[in-house]
Amino acid sequence: MEAYLLDWLNLLARWAHLVVGIAWIGASFYFIWLDNHLEPSADSKIAGDLWAIHGGGFYHAEKFKGAPPQMPARLHWFKWEAYWTWITGFFLLVLVYYAGAEMYLIDAAVMPLSQPAAIGIGLASLVLGLGVYEALCRSPLGRNDAALGAVMFALLAVLAWGLTQVFGGRGAFIHYGAILGTIMVGNVAHVIIPGQRRMVAALAAGRAPDPKDGAAGKQRSVHNTYFTLPVLFTMISSHYAFTFGASWNWLVLVALTLAGGLIRVWFVMRHKGGAPAWPLALGVGLLLVLMFSFRPKTQDKALPVKFEDVKRIVDARCLGCHAPKPTFAGLVAAPKGVLLDTPERIRAQAATIYAQTVAAKAMPPGNLTTMTDEERALLARWILSGAKID
Ligand code: HEC
Repeated sequence: MEAYLLDWLNLLARWAHLVVGIAWIGASFYFIWLDNHLEPSADSKIAGDLWAIHGGGFYHAEKFKGAPPQMPARLHWFKWEAYWTWITGFFLLVLVYYAGAEMYLIDAAVMPLSQPAAIGIGLASLVLGLGVYEALCRSPLGRNDAALGAVMFALLAVLAWGLTQVFGGRGAFIHYGAILGTIMVGNVAHVIIPGQRRMVAALAAGRAPDPKDGAAGKQRSVHNTYFTLPVLFTMISSHYAFTFGASWNWLVLVALTLAGGLIRVWFVMRHKGGAPAWPLALGVGLLLVLMFSFRPKTQDKALPVKFEDVKRIVDARCLGCHAPKPTFAGLVAAPKGVLLDTPERIRAQAATIYAQTVAAKAMPPGNLTTMTDEERALLARWILSGAKID
């Protein structure tokens, strides 16, 4: 019963996380688009304006230079989408990766951590990531966007490498994304919103707002926009064992961060009219190089294998979880509906078994049932020689 309720909690939290995340990123993409499509105005107080049609209505948006001459009666703020994305995301992190640390976070072959140690490292990485980023932005380096970008990218590569030296691939990828996501929400909470509050207060007091607030807010929202695609990748990465389960998984993460960032760069340039093709070409090229470098290696002529040996391995290493009534604590049903209890079902899953246990070592999770490399090789030979069950 308890496990069943936890599954429901997981579903509701994930659903909410998606909804508020879409609201946040949607608004953020929209405002970047808006800013970059403004047309110059004859009015000297107006930075630009544009007309749009959506949902059966015409809209006219204007952006003021600095601030409007007087405070409007109602001013809409955009912040709860970001805060709720973090709150629901953190809740999911705790529920899935910390409560289920032995399955999703720890991999004894990477580092044999206890559950409290793994959770401690995970939480510390969030705080440390945010601290280092803030320090960089506030240092003299923060005034040079190109240098700051280069240093941040180098540090992200170190982070990707470091996380994969302590956690299993899946847990490492989600922490990388959670750190970036925390930085993004931190930018909203610590810089963008307080700056806007000061701007509004200045206006109410009849003073000109400090342009530094506007500039800092702009810098942080630009960072957020380039982080978006990499973060979204890490959020779906757990479905793709060939990414987090690859032997050079940290490099996959670095390459996908770069590709996602470049593709976003191209989109932003395109908004401004006429983007050069190179950011897109480089981003997509990087994805193709990645795809090619990590293609499954064709094995030597596969030797036939007796199915009874395969069955013995699956029974010992997989059946605790992938049975109609799993015996592994905390599971109510076979994960992802993958059943491996009969020869036919094992054969039906041959391709995914190959992807999960041979191409990537994603199953068993955290190698909880201590599957050996010889066993993985035997499953590979069986599958490559046609996955026969008689
Ligand atoms: C300790 C429990 C456990 C064991 C043991 C285990 N699995 Fe899994 N398996 C899971 C969980 C949990 C998932 C769902 C992962 C997710 O949410 O992405 C899963 C998912 C899968 C999937 C579907 C992956 C996808 O993304 O569609 C396959 C295939 C699979 N396991 C095969 C195996 C094989 C083969 C073995 C034995 C070598 C095995 N598993 C052992 C828990 C286990």
